[in-house]
Amino acid sequence: MRLDKFLSKATELSRSECKKVLHRGEITVNDEVIKDGSRHIHADDEVLWAGEPLSVADGNRYILLYKPDGFECTLKAKEYPIVTDLIAVPEVASLRIAGRLDVDTTGALLLSDDGSWLHRVTSPKRHQPKRYELTLADPMDETAQAHAIKQVANGILLDGDTEKTRPAELSFIDETHATLILTEGKYHQVKRMMAYFGNKVIELHRASIGTITLDGLEMGECRFLNDDEIEQF
Ligand code: URA
Repeated sequence: MRLDKFLSKATELSRSECKKVLHRGEITVNDEVIKDGSRHIHADDEVLWAGEPLSVADGNRYILLYKPDGFECTLKAKEYPIVTDLIAVPEVASLRIAGRLDVDTTGALLLSDDGSWLHRVTSPKRHQPKRYELTLADPMDETAQAHAIKQVANGILLDGDTEKTRPAELSFIDETHATLILTEGKYHQVKRMMAYFGNKVIELHRASIGTITLDGLEMGECRFLNDDEIEQF
């Protein structure tokens, strides 16, 4: 979070009063006087105003889960175990899911108890890129690949939809493995897009959402997002 935003959240001061306090050199971050309001503050920084510690009471949780196969993105178990079974935080029932994955899809899943943030993550207007890795049932030769890449880049009209998909980036690793970068989240979108080309997705993995990747997480593990990851939405 920016220092000026942090100050106005942590105090009763208005934005312009915060500027003056900063300008007068009354704020230190980790013992260093900081006058620049755009400086980013992280959870472990010590911020003092005239020697008194400041903190922001932010009760919201922002979580990235590496979803395994066989878990359902619902809040009440039906046929399968549910993703929140994997998250050991207090009041797990208050978490909501942003951008569900199918039971058999693995990868990056975001959860939070901050409703307006969840809304921003899933808003179709924001066009956050989501990167999928997929395995296809039937091999596609170079001609079929080139055709699909072009069609996907132009947008395709999926069965039952009235609007074409947004331009997306498809690239092939080999005849049965590809990556697809989407900036929207229609129902079963990746599987339906490949069905459009007469193929079937047999494995699907979401590798990233915006700048958020699964680096450092094992399947089934989760972590809290950092400030930059939260604020990108
Ligand atoms: N598209 C799909 O078809 N399934 C998912 O789980 C995610 C995107």
